[in-house]
Amino acid sequence: MEIVVRPTAEAAATYAHDLLVEHVRRQPTTVLGLPTGATPLPVYARLVQSHRTALFSMQSVTTFNLDEYYGLGLKHPASYTAYMSRALFDHVDCPASQRHIPNGLAADAQQEAADYEALIAAAGGIDFMLLGIGRNGHIGFNEPGSDFASRTRLVDLTPSTLAANAPFFADGETQPKQAISMGIGTILQARRIVVLATGASKAEAVRQSLEKPAKTAVPASALHLARDVTFVLDQACAGI
Ligand code: F6R
Repeated sequence: MEIVVRPTAEAAATYAHDLLVEHVRRQPTTVLGLPTGATPLPVYARLVQSHRTALFSMQSVTTFNLDEYYGLGLKHPASYTAYMSRALFDHVDCPASQRHIPNGLAADAQQEAADYEALIAAAGGIDFMLLGIGRNGHIGFNEPGSDFASRTRLVDLTPSTLAANAPFFADGETQPKQAISMGIGTILQARRIVVLATGASKAEAVRQSLEKPAKTAVPASALHLARDVTFVLDQACAGI
């Protein structure tokens, strides 16, 4: 496991962006795993910029997002489908047929999760997974206690995750309490994992994740079991 510390959140995002772009240049058919949330937004902004300056193409890339709220309309601005369109997909050349996000409106969530897992396997697994980390140590929506062997499935969101995401829903609007998320076992199979964590609010989650042995109370500590992991932190998150 490698830990890289950059002075600022912006510099950390640039570093993560550069790793991703370099990987796709080397392997244009890269299968990417992608997160949503606040942390990766500057990475996506840089990818869009790199695409505009013709340094980066997603023409042959396949993407799998980590998660989607269950029961939320895909056009709802807080859905991860809408987020990905806004942040990245509307501005780059990745064909729609090569982009995957769990369908949060699937009638049968278990079937949708099984189908998603099968699609990842059919694509040959994830080559490069970009991850964020929750303040409670979650990765994807694998909340504390999630089995390290878990696969894509319907999950219940914890009160702390609901509180963190509440600002994205209008007052009085029903916030989904479940999501379809890649499992920890699915994530661990990625051939390369880059975790981007910035800001003091993530410092404790990162510190606990780096502690051995891995324990299910800290989902991101499972990353000790993955083959090639880099944590990219800013100084605020690293506590220096
Ligand atoms: C989102 C996801 C989550 C986030 C985490 C951090 O797809 O998988 O695990 O990465 O909640 O979110 P931010 O970056 O908003 O702090």
